[in-house]
Amino acid sequence: MNVREMMSFLIMFVLVSISHVSALEACPNCGSMQVPYPLSTNDNCGNPRYRVYCNNGSLEFLSAQKFFYQILSINPSAYKFIIRPPLIQKNTCYSSDLDVGGLLLDENSPFNISTHNTVMLFNCSETILLSPLNCSSISPCRQFEKVEAETGCIDTLCCSFLKDSAMTSHRIRVRVGGCTAYTSVVDFNPDQIVESWNYGIELQWVPPN
Ligand SMILES: *[C@@H]1O[C@H](CO)[C@@H](O)[C@H](O)[C@H]1NC(C)=O
Ligand SMILES: *[C@@H]1O[C@H](CO)[C@@H](O)[C@H](O)[C@H]1NC(C)=O
Ligand SMILES: *[C@@H]1O[C@H](CO)[C@@H](O)[C@H](O)[C@H]1NC(C)=O
Ligand SMILES: *[C@@H]1O[C@H](CO)[C@@H](O)[C@H](O)[C@H]1NC(C)=O
Repeated sequence: MNVREMMSFLIMFVLVSISHVSALEACPNCGSMQVPYPLSTNDNCGNPRYRVYCNNGSLEFLSAQKFFYQILSINPSAYKFIIRPPLIQKNTCYSSDLDVGGLLLDENSPFNISTHNTVMLFNCSETILLSPLNCSSISPCRQFEKVEAETGCIDTLCCSFLKDSAMTSHRIRVRVGGCTAYTSVVDFNPDQIVESWNYGIELQWVPPN
């Protein structure tokens, strides 16, 4: 090896090591939020498979339908984070992600919807009564209606269910002619007063190997 080859070999080696090391590092904070490994806001940190977005100081998750959901909290040791359910537009009973059919995760991504979410669906069509959801007059979704009075969801047909492992863990579906709005509560407890519900959709990730 001559000096020139030696030099380029060395430079290559250093570059490869640098990119290898930084790929294992946590990303800088987004606004006031820490971005723990493996979550990645850019190609130089975290693990690129675990892509999230730092949009103007707000850490966000991008669905398969290209809809952004704000990340509210992250629990890296449990491989989980909680996203904000979409807003229900004032005086209507439409979730802001209704146009894209609700929340859809890419099946090939490392993320899925955890089994700690109690999903509440609003303004459902009668056909949903055939499903195994809780659409009774004492369903928890009736409580939500009382506190969220400014939404147009009052007195619409609503149903709730625990998103358990028997269901797809990649979607919460809304559509015109089905149910047009939804919210979700993490670790719902029927004894809890509605004002202390923890609104959110908990997602989990497969740890990198
Ligand atoms: C970015 O965030 C700042 C502070 O929260 C806000 O004033 C500004 O309007 C935001 N800009 C955009 C493009 O959202
Ligand atoms: C519906 O939810 C209420 C309140 O949590 C519960 O008491 C009731 O048993 C549920 N009904 C069905 C059919 O699951
Ligand atoms: C409820 O859904 C139907 C379509 O399924 C829609 O026409 C109606 O406007 C919705 N109601 C509200 C209050 O948004
Ligand atoms: C979701 O991901 C977790 C691990 O990240 C896994 O244990 C679980 O089986 C997955 N659930 C489904 C229904 O794929």
